[in-house]
Amino acid sequence: LYKNEIESWKKIKDSFVCITVDSPTKEWKDYVGPVSAVIDKVEIKISKSARAAVCGPPIMMKLCVEALLKKGLKEKNIFISLERLMQCGIGVCGHCNINELYVCKDGPVFCFQKIKDLKELW
Ligand code: FES
Repeated sequence: LYKNEIESWKKIKDSFVCITVDSPTKEWKDYVGPVSAVIDKVEIKISKSARAAVCGPPIMMKLCVEALLKKGLKEKNIFISLERLMQCGIGVCGHCNINELYVCKDGPVFCFQKIKDLKELW
């Protein structure tokens, strides 16, 4: 999606960019494996201003959040993009709600600190 921007991200001071795949080709030179495992493996220094944006399947997001927390990132600095089947998109039909939250009107991006206790989520 952001293929053309990746090299410029790597040049940002104090940034860390890693790309991983599950099934590498012979030419692949970067990381291999689930992103949560890569986060566990790599040496990264978490600064106070560090932020993480996480999206993907729920189990992957859960494992990534666990790995990021182990690295020292604060809950308030992790942002989760939730995906739910939406219908009305304006908080009326209830298709996207998770407990009291409506993904369509309250999100779809939430601070992990706000949603971490939603059992239905994980
Ligand atoms: S899509 Fe209808 S309430 Fe969110």
